Amino acid sequence: MARTKILLDEKDMPRQWYNLAADLPSPPPPPLGPDGKPITPDMLAPVFPMNLIEQEVSTDRWIDIPEEILEMLTLWRPSPLYRAKRLEQHLGTPARIYYKNEGVSPPGSHKPNTAIPQAWYNKQFGIKRLTTETGAGQWGSALAFACALVGLECKVYMVRISFDQKPYRRLMMETWGATCVPSPSAETNAGRAILKEKPDTPGSLGIAISEAIEAAVTDPSGKTRYSLGSVLNHVLLHQTIIGLETKKQLKKAGEKKVDAVIGCCGGGSNFAGLAFPFVADKIHGADIAIIPVEPTSCPTMTRAPYAYDHGDTARMTPLLPMHSLGHGFVPPPIHAGGLRYHGMAPLVSRVIVEGLAEPRAYDQLKCYEAAVLWARTEGFISAPETSHAIAAAIDEAVKAKEEGKEKVIVFNWSGHGLMDLTGYDAFFRGKLVDFPLPEEELQKSIASMKGFPKPEMPRRKK
Ligand SMILES: Cc1ncc(COP(=O)(O)O)c(C=O)c1O
Repeated sequence: MARTKILLDEKDMPRQWYNLAADLPSPPPPPLGPDGKPITPDMLAPVFPMNLIEQEVSTDRWIDIPEEILEMLTLWRPSPLYRAKRLEQHLGTPARIYYKNEGVSPPGSHKPNTAIPQAWYNKQFGIKRLTTETGAGQWGSALAFACALVGLECKVYMVRISFDQKPYRRLMMETWGATCVPSPSAETNAGRAILKEKPDTPGSLGIAISEAIEAAVTDPSGKTRYSLGSVLNHVLLHQTIIGLETKKQLKKAGEKKVDAVIGCCGGGSNFAGLAFPFVADKIHGADIAIIPVEPTSCPTMTRAPYAYDHGDTARMTPLLPMHSLGHGFVPPPIHAGGLRYHGMAPLVSRVIVEGLAEPRAYDQLKCYEAAVLWARTEGFISAPETSHAIAAAIDEAVKAKEEGKEKVIVFNWSGHGLMDLTGYDAFFRGKLVDFPLPEEELQKSIASMKGFPKPEMPRRKK
């Protein structure tokens, strides 16, 4: 009988994170400051502690994971790799479908893989309090959990639409000792300005990021820093523990070759965490389809330009080289709150412009259909974000059936949806609709980047 779960011992946990920046064919262009010049690490110091800034700019291939962090990660790591045998049977596919179950962490997603190190490095640096934003509530609850373990205060600005849709996430954050307010809030200049213009706004990650950064940099004690749950290099770095474990587990399962690696993409962290160790193989000649998946309502990778843009709405962050729909973009209120971000991680964006990944976009209804089929075959109830990866894995498995090929498909099951059942409710009641982004809206939104510098493209495009 083929195994359902491929498990690793705690002693087999990776001891180092993998940094893709060391292996990319061309390095991502640098972030730019307000004067259009590359920013220096010092300029980030009011926002992040220097030990994390060092990781942000590092081009070392391997970075040691401190023992104390590993010890905290063992609360749920190594996470199990599952074989989706029941789904395979249902689809009648010759493909073998594997999924990395990141929903086993206490908050229920991959997010604590970086929340724990971020809280730990801040504490080491003498910081007392972290601020952050959250979309779906997964990141906010992960940071609240990490701050409880490490011993830091935590303040979370939660995108209003999710705050209203997901009251239980706020309660989780409060249980771990954090404070959570809806964004835009009246507590910051950025929030007040937006509320004045659009009092009924559903909010966006871009707005919530502006509020959280403002709250950190204006703390007169100097003991508050900001923490970001995705997008940045050090966040993606911390998530690579997922892909490194997966490689060991696939070997244990007897797999010699992987054909497709899939992850859903909001800011890019769970996708990168699974995929980057495989992207390294692809750079060195392996034939692997690397597939990041996004919603059609927020088509950052599939329709937005690779450009320099701000990571937040109030333009407080440096200009980052990334696929962006424009910093003012407010996505439609789909239930996958964590995928409603206007930008994409610079490293993921670079992987795409290098021709190393093939992004695709799916409609919300297709993803819910996939998530319901998943629940009725594999049992687990998925986060709405994760359902995008499931839909792509199903498409790949069906393609393998049509081609009669025994493919190996691996995807990141980034989180459970037990706090997201209102989306399932809307789906079952026929109240859910698709929101493909109209072209005129896209054009209007990307116009906000007019006049910004253009990032250099790789010279050699595959
Ligand atoms: C379960 C889950 N998956 C995926 C994402 C998307 O984020 P990222 O692209 O950084 O993995 C989120 C974000 O909130 C999430 O909660």
